[in-house]
Amino acid sequence: MLQFAIIAIQIIPSITVIIPAYNAEKYIQTSVQPVINQSLQNKEIIVVNDGSTDSTKSALRKLQITYPNLIVYNLEQNKGPLFVRQYGVQKSRGEYVFQLDADDSLRHQNVLQDLLAYTILKPDILHFQHQAVKYFPNNSTQEISWWGNAQVESANSSNMLSMLVHAKIHWLIHGKLIKRTIFAQAIEQINDIRHLIYGDDEVLCIAVFSIAQSYNGVPYIGYNFNQRQDSVTGQRNQSIQTLLKVIIDYFSTRDLVQKLLPPDLFDIRNRITKDYEVNLTQNEKLFDYHFLSLQNYLIHNNLKL
Ligand SMILES: *[C@@H]1O[C@H](CO)[C@@H](O)[C@H](O)[C@H]1NC(C)=O
Ligand SMILES: *[C@@H]1O[C@H](CO)[C@@H](O)[C@H](O)[C@H]1NC(C)=O
Ligand SMILES: *[C@@H]1O[C@H](CO)[C@@H](O)[C@H](O)[C@H]1NC(C)=O
Ligand SMILES: *[C@@H]1O[C@H](CO)[C@@H](O)[C@H](O)[C@H]1NC(C)=O
Ligand SMILES: *[C@@H]1O[C@H](CO)[C@@H](O)[C@H](O)[C@H]1NC(C)=O
Ligand SMILES: *[C@@H]1O[C@H](CO)[C@@H](O)[C@H](O)[C@H]1NC(C)=O
Repeated sequence: MLQFAIIAIQIIPSITVIIPAYNAEKYIQTSVQPVINQSLQNKEIIVVNDGSTDSTKSALRKLQITYPNLIVYNLEQNKGPLFVRQYGVQKSRGEYVFQLDADDSLRHQNVLQDLLAYTILKPDILHFQHQAVKYFPNNSTQEISWWGNAQVESANSSNMLSMLVHAKIHWLIHGKLIKRTIFAQAIEQINDIRHLIYGDDEVLCIAVFSIAQSYNGVPYIGYNFNQRQDSVTGQRNQSIQTLLKVIIDYFSTRDLVQKLLPPDLFDIRNRITKDYEVNLTQNEKLFDYHFLSLQNYLIHNNLKL
């Protein structure tokens, strides 16, 4: 009897879009549908439902009826954005990974196709542009100015982390195509802090930028960064010191001192306090404590300040 070997040819998707969703019933369709509708055929869409207590799960099931390729993971418990983004990366197969927030959207149906054209030189990171869109209570919208766009055309391993820290490159994790292999390596390094419930953008960007070798910023606007009054911006029920400690420990223990020097940490501190609109005067002692640990580390390892 003839045996036919069926060889399944695994086609690697060009892009995996990862959408973390927490209590996103209102907007999940307006973020997922435009991804489903993308003209790029060779894509993978992963939604990670982060233990939502509203009807996000059934909204996703409905979307799967019209688009069976939609991959959905329903987590039993709410784990927070850093965990969920990492989870999505671990499940993804695409050459590039792209994080889309559940209340944001792609601007038109050719965005992924267009972005792919920009990856011809295979940069580890391709950063494109956001358009901030303000939603009024009556659902009319207005495009408003936004300060987080790519200002740098290219960067390499010796300068991109510093550009990130010094705000030449914005540290939102969405709006960047990141090679899956790089992203996967980066999340490996921050496995022990995956339960941090905010600061996911900062932590992931620093981890990714400390590993990547090449960066391109392009003037292409593809991402609607939707500003709604009722947006769930995540619980910030963890102290800002926790975030700073995590970041500083990350630098201290991972031999990143050749790429970033301690003064850069003050910039990180200043940017985080600005991003989260917190006043650190009460907490600077704690910051200094960690800063001193880093200094000791440098001295111990004969590294110059
Ligand atoms: C997606 O495509 C469907 C069918 O082609 C169309 O009815 C729908 O309006 C599109 N939605 C979006 C958000 O582009
Ligand atoms: C919606 O609300 C905004 C802000 O209040 C207003 O400027 C706009 O004219 C309203 N649009 C409609 C269609 O009512
Ligand atoms: C605005 O849009 C949301 C989401 O689609 C909808 O739930 C809500 O009823 C709309 N509000 C108005 C005033 O039309
Ligand atoms: C990185 O880019 C800078 C600025 O363009 C350049 O001076 C430097 O030689 C590059 N470094 C590497 C390792 O390619
Ligand atoms: C943070 O969460 C804990 C336990 O859930 C709660 O007791 C505390 O009040 C919360 N703190 C803030 C600032 O929301
Ligand atoms: C932050 O602290 C400074 C110095 O104590 C104070 O002048 C300022 O009003 C504080 N700002 C806020 C937003 O609390």
